[in-house]
Amino acid sequence: MFEIGSVLFSARQIQSRVRELGEEISRDYAGKELLMVGILKGAAMFMMDLAREIHIPVQMDFMSLSSYGAATESTGTVQTRRDLDADISNRHVLVVEDIVDTGLTLNYLKQSLQLRQPASVKICAFLDKPARRKLELEIEYKGYVVEGDDFLVGYGLDMAEEGRALPYIAAVRR
Ligand code: IMP
Repeated sequence: MFEIGSVLFSARQIQSRVRELGEEISRDYAGKELLMVGILKGAAMFMMDLAREIHIPVQMDFMSLSSYGAATESTGTVQTRRDLDADISNRHVLVVEDIVDTGLTLNYLKQSLQLRQPASVKICAFLDKPARRKLELEIEYKGYVVEGDDFLVGYGLDMAEEGRALPYIAAVRR
């Protein structure tokens, strides 16, 4: 188990930021059909909240990738544990992720999705933690940028599977 340190974003803050993101995405994709692709398990909570704030028709699919396992460091090797059900060719894909840290996971994912010839692929990450970024990655929609490299839990984010269900986002006490 871990000890919770400072709370970075309260449930109320999260809710209002998700609403803003939903409005922005609804405007940008107006008249198009959107396929939201959630990355399990961390983005599940954000995905469900965001989907309810998007006011155009959306479809949803999920992928599961292995990155950290029980460790808190990205290994750089990304494996697909569960692939999409949907054929994404000619479709507008929005990848929904909990947090971008080194960027390795989403960089890999974006490249592999591009090979399937979608109409577009964009990224929506609730948190952007640029301190440890290893490559340049465009994140079209982001909830918050977090300075420093604290390990965060809550709102889907876990530390060795603990803490995902917390309704707020907090730093783990070191
Ligand atoms: P990246 O490949 O280093 O960008 O790692 C992305 C993934 O690492 C995220 O989807 C999370 O699952 C996990 N991750 C990165 N930082 C944190 C954190 O502070 N708390 C919990 N999980 C994290």
